Amino acid sequence: MDTRRNFIKKSAIIGAALCFPVALTRECLATYPVLKTGEPKKVLILWYSQTGHTRRYARLIRCILKEKNLTVDEREFQEADKKILPDYDFIIIGTPVFYYDTPSNVSDWLETIPSIKGIAVASFVSFGGPEGNQHNASCHILKLLAKKGGVPVGRDAFRNIPTYPTPRWDSDNQISGQHLPNAATFDQVRRFTNDTLERISRGETISISYEIEMREILRALPLVWMNKKAINKHTVDATKCIRCGTCVRKCPTKAINPFQQVVDRNKCLACFGCLNNCPAGAVVMEYSGERLYGFFEYLKRNNITIMEPEEFKTCS
Ligand SMILES: Cc1cc2nc3c(=O)[nH]c(=O)nc-3n(C[C@H](O)[C@H](O)[C@H](O)COP(=O)(O)O)c2cc1C
Ligand code: SF4
Ligand code: SF4
Repeated sequence: MDTRRNFIKKSAIIGAALCFPVALTRECLATYPVLKTGEPKKVLILWYSQTGHTRRYARLIRCILKEKNLTVDEREFQEADKKILPDYDFIIIGTPVFYYDTPSNVSDWLETIPSIKGIAVASFVSFGGPEGNQHNASCHILKLLAKKGGVPVGRDAFRNIPTYPTPRWDSDNQISGQHLPNAATFDQVRRFTNDTLERISRGETISISYEIEMREILRALPLVWMNKKAINKHTVDATKCIRCGTCVRKCPTKAINPFQQVVDRNKCLACFGCLNNCPAGAVVMEYSGERLYGFFEYLKRNNITIMEPEEFKTCS
């Protein structure tokens, strides 16, 4: 039985293009407003995270900044009131890469934030790659922030175990990425945070340059739609459901109703947040006839514990 990734690859007419990753860069929005301050005091970190990786990096960044005596607010982006954004000196946005791109619920949210003219902005993504288009996904966030007057000062991408369910969790990425994040990943987060702060103090910006690769053509495919077609079952097993409401909280589009065992397939973004986080294995998803199981079950079955950074021992 094909894995989902194979399905995508095979169904892409331009699949051959994947063999020739010609990389070019395209720059946009190279001039920005003047920075509000070279000495940020108030920082806002907003993240979107379905399975905890992006949240872990956001939390580490908060710990590092708090050590430097900055005032830091850190929260899930859906819980933030957009009106508070202009109150900060520095805004950092973190998201996973989903389907070679920024998750659409995050981009839609950023499209409607108020003006943040002159505020330093940085973005980071967590990804399961290596081929996952992480550079462009983080640039896309910066571009949306710059459209609102934000001044780009940093971007980065941190790799970890992918959370994308396949029937046996046996894609090459899942196997090769199983020890990430590690100490080097956390060092990269520390470097990103420190370098970005230094750049602000020097009044420097970064340009938003997209990498144009043949692989980029994949983004033009309706990947979410294609996956939803391959997911032939998506419902809730009432006999297993403990009515905890986790899937409802995790669903970005309110597509799942576990109490009536229904999923609105039109609203669903195929993000797997419900499947990955259900503590009772009650979310039923079948991919081309094969039952999927979630990320935390995958960790349990393979005895994988995700490493936490040192800072978490002392930073509340
Ligand atoms: C629906 C879905 C799509 C994904 N698509 C990609 C992708 O295109 N490229 C990639 O590198 N990783 C991809 N991943 C892996 C995630 O980006 C990665 O595991 C991320 O760190 C998850 O972050 P979180 O734990 O904060 O939710 C995908 C994961 C899911 C669940
Ligand atoms: S119902 Fe769809 S959109 Fe909602 S969490 Fe599940 S997979 Fe994601
Ligand atoms: S997360 Fe699982 S157990 Fe909890 S309400 Fe949803 S389906 Fe039921």
